[in-house]
Amino acid sequence: MNPTGNLPKILVTGGAGFIGSHTVVSLVEAGFEPVIVDNFSNSERSVLDGLRGILGRDVTAYEADCNDIGAMEDIFRKESFSGVIHFAAFKAVGESVQQPLKYYRNNIDSLLLLLELMPRYNVPNLVFSSSCTVYGQPEQLPVTEETPRLPAQSPYGNTKAICEDIIRDAVRAQLPVKSIALRYFNPIGAHPSGLIGELPRGVPGNLVPFITQTAAGLRQQLTVFGSDYDTPDGTCVRDFIHVMDLAEAHVQALRKLNETNADAHYDVFNIGTGRGETVLDVINTFERETGVSVNYTIGPRRAGDVEKIYADVAKAPNELGWEASRSLADSLRDAWRWEQKLRQEV
Ligand code: NAD
Ligand code: WQD
Repeated sequence: MNPTGNLPKILVTGGAGFIGSHTVVSLVEAGFEPVIVDNFSNSERSVLDGLRGILGRDVTAYEADCNDIGAMEDIFRKESFSGVIHFAAFKAVGESVQQPLKYYRNNIDSLLLLLELMPRYNVPNLVFSSSCTVYGQPEQLPVTEETPRLPAQSPYGNTKAICEDIIRDAVRAQLPVKSIALRYFNPIGAHPSGLIGELPRGVPGNLVPFITQTAAGLRQQLTVFGSDYDTPDGTCVRDFIHVMDLAEAHVQALRKLNETNADAHYDVFNIGTGRGETVLDVINTFERETGVSVNYTIGPRRAGDVEKIYADVAKAPNELGWEASRSLADSLRDAWRWEQKLRQEV
């Protein structure tokens, strides 16, 4: 079956990536027609096969760079979008310290171009991928949306704060765009079908892909970065959210923007579970849920890590009609199913 013609079309930049691909599934389930634009700089074309397997049909996908003015203008002209979800960005914190200009150029220019094109093509609604990284190590936990942002620890984090400010200022200046920035906490897991998931390139920097790759025998040992933090077991605390919960938050954000009558509107939401779990909680839950043990050792702290952070999640249920419903155990079972599927393919 081919994509249908008359559903509200949503441009999903970075739609072949980890969070974007799962959001494409939620959009289709909610009656939207996603249109992916991705340059596959950090994703594989095979993601489109996974999406076809889940949805039973193709999703329109353009291979293009979001910073390519001509290509983006052609796509806007052709498609008549009713909204945009802007995932496309580089996201490796360490690399952003080494190559800051690459991050500023990609992450900021792509947003500026969208904000220029949207009014020109009468596209009113923008959902932007922000991050809890904008809070740094907050003094008080949990963090609410009012918790002051701290100077970013990395150029990557800085791009998220700058992009939030660009949107806020554009809306303040009466650009006819309504926008919601979602500050994700730590997205993990995969679609329960095992057909799409996270595809880290090289050695994973994030905890859960490192756990699943170690359990699968691809990595010899996981190093737990520090056990002398001021937390219940000495390891860092994070708010791990299932990627399908996160995906559904985007659908609710779009619905909220659709219902908002004002010409210009900007708001920010924390998208987490509200639960703080330690690194050892994650390892122990993984072992319990999968029956597979993880070879790990305790090592020194990783430079730049915050000790603990988790979200106050009161605002999103009230104003977006969304809250996370999946558990850490659900996330880890789904991440493991995905990892096993990947190993079968190798
Ligand atoms: P990802 O790298 O899996 O997905 C990003 C996608 O964007 C990739 O498919 C990549 O090829 C594409 N892309 C990058 N630059 C592009 C460009 N110029 N033109 C076209 N496509 C481009 O990352 P993700 O984890 O899915 O993250 C999505 C968004 O969420 C990013 O903005 C990221 O900063 C943000 N975010 C991620 C996390 C996380 O832990 N994964 C946490 C908070 C915020
Ligand atoms: C989680 C915990 C590590 C790997 C990053 C970005 C952040 C946001 C989400 C985009 C930490 C520990 C990890 C390992 C370990 N991304 N760990 N051994 O650092 O919370 O956040 O992704 O916006 O900006 O910084 O996530 O998964 O890297 O780490 O002990 O091999 O796991 O020290 O405490 P983090 P993470």
